[in-house]
Amino acid sequence: MSTQTVAPARRRVWLFVLGTVALLCLALPAAVWYLNVKGEEAIPATGAVAAPASAETVARGAYLVRAGNCMACHTARGGIEGAGGKGIETPFGVIYASNLTPDDDTGLGRWNSAEFWRAMHHGRSKDGRLLYPAFPYTSFTQVTREDSDAMHAYLRTLPPAAQANRAHDIGFPYNTQAALAVWRALYFRPGRFEPQPQQSAEWNRGAYLVRGPGHCAACHTARDTLGGTRGAALDLAGGIIPMQNWYAPALTSGDEAGVAHWPREDVVALLRTGTSPRGQATGPMAEVVQHSTQYMSESDLSAMAAYLQALPQHASPPPPSRPAPTAAQQARGARIYANNCANCHGVDGEGVPGAYPPLKGNRTVTMANAANVIQTVLYGGFSPATPGNPRPYGMPPYVLALSEEDIAAVATHIRSQWGNQAPPVTALDITRVRSGNAR
Ligand code: HEC
Ligand code: HEC
Ligand code: HEC
Repeated sequence: MSTQTVAPARRRVWLFVLGTVALLCLALPAAVWYLNVKGEEAIPATGAVAAPASAETVARGAYLVRAGNCMACHTARGGIEGAGGKGIETPFGVIYASNLTPDDDTGLGRWNSAEFWRAMHHGRSKDGRLLYPAFPYTSFTQVTREDSDAMHAYLRTLPPAAQANRAHDIGFPYNTQAALAVWRALYFRPGRFEPQPQQSAEWNRGAYLVRGPGHCAACHTARDTLGGTRGAALDLAGGIIPMQNWYAPALTSGDEAGVAHWPREDVVALLRTGTSPRGQATGPMAEVVQHSTQYMSESDLSAMAAYLQALPQHASPPPPSRPAPTAAQQARGARIYANNCANCHGVDGEGVPGAYPPLKGNRTVTMANAANVIQTVLYGGFSPATPGNPRPYGMPPYVLALSEEDIAAVATHIRSQWGNQAPPVTALDITRVRSGNAR
């Protein structure tokens, strides 16, 4: 065989390999990009931003903006309502919420309703920029076009505030559109809420509110290390809220936040007043009630409750076993409880109705994940102040009064008394919550 025939054959193999690699290098980004823009409608190039909306539409938009809790994120502490500037902490950096007021240069003044819809439904800004999912468009994608238009109409009635958007404080590579495009290709598809004809109108309304505007899944679903939600099976099945170190318990488990067995009026009371005979909203959930659900109509709250109560329930997986506390640790926990806690929560953890929650049989206490117990003992807490519960009693913080060992001991104590049976808490668990690494 002469070398003249082998060389071209080898060259052809190499050309083929190189060609394939080059094609993949081009095709992969193209595929990622395609997944990011698939299904987007063209934005009408009309100069007209919005026809004046009816008072009724504006009122509906205002209601939906409450239901979506938009202002809680889009208003800086002490800032102008809706003018943005509040930083949302994520594991990748701080993302600043944008100005939603109708200022022409810094806000949504020049946005038409199609551009607003594209942001809500596709997570893309007016200038085409992919938006960070700190803006929960992974849920808002299910908001209907009609409701999106009503929200837009309402936001246009806010007083325009000239306040430029703050640049995000986020490091390489997460600050690139390419990284965001990959993230979105992995975790985000625009979706529409599909009513289920075999379910009641009430269930469907509740499902829409919970999944779409209410974005309950933004907290109540587990996230992986890339901040993605891990698939439908874990939907609403509970997870640590990144950076906040609170655990948003499973709405699909009676051991956690499932409400299948509550009387309907208790679920409604929780969402409307922040408190109920069965449990109360604290921490990040108190803010949801404070800024959002307390303003919703009785029929919408009842619909959300109907949907939550019909969610398929699964027993929580058994917690990993841990070594039992030593006799000395047990004695320490009992002593700290008697000295610091029994005054309010009762010698037998029975609480005081209307003032101090019982710790006996309390799911916050007995849940496998102890992050919320630790948060409450460290930093204290309030339920939201609502007309139904205007002066909630407060829980004092113990971060300065008790050591991490003490807090672990008393948390272990309340998790193992009065019939409560939850795994012990260690000082390392307290350190993790304090240092922002709750699991
Ligand atoms: C959990 C916090 C949070 C909530 C709740 C929230 N947003 Fe945002 N939103 C953000 C953040 C952060 C950004 C900035 C994202 C970016 O720049 O990539 C944003 C961006 C936007 C944008 C794009 C603005 C622009 O200039 O590109 C729009 C529109 C918007 N939000 C509307 C809403 C509406 C309407 C609601 C309520 C239905 C809402 N948001 C609720 C955090 C939130
Ligand atoms: C910002 C994060 C966040 C969002 C958004 C959120 N939750 Fe929660 N939720 C929590 C946390 C944290 C807890 C645990 C603390 C507590 O019990 O209040 C909780 C607890 C609950 C509980 C259990 C309360 C109890 O006493 O047993 C219910 C029910 C609940 N949430 C429903 C909802 C619904 C419905 C929505 C959507 C409208 C929602 N949550 C949105 C964070 C959130
Ligand atoms: C001055 C009265 C008072 C004292 C003392 C007190 N608590 Fe509380 N505690 C409260 C109130 C009020 C709440 C409800 C506040 C909230 O929901 O955030 C609460 C909530 C809690 C919760 C969360 C219950 C739930 O359903 O969300 C736990 C756990 C808890 N306390 C444990 C303790 C422990 C442990 C101590 C002692 C180290 C203690 N408390 C001392 C008043 C008190």
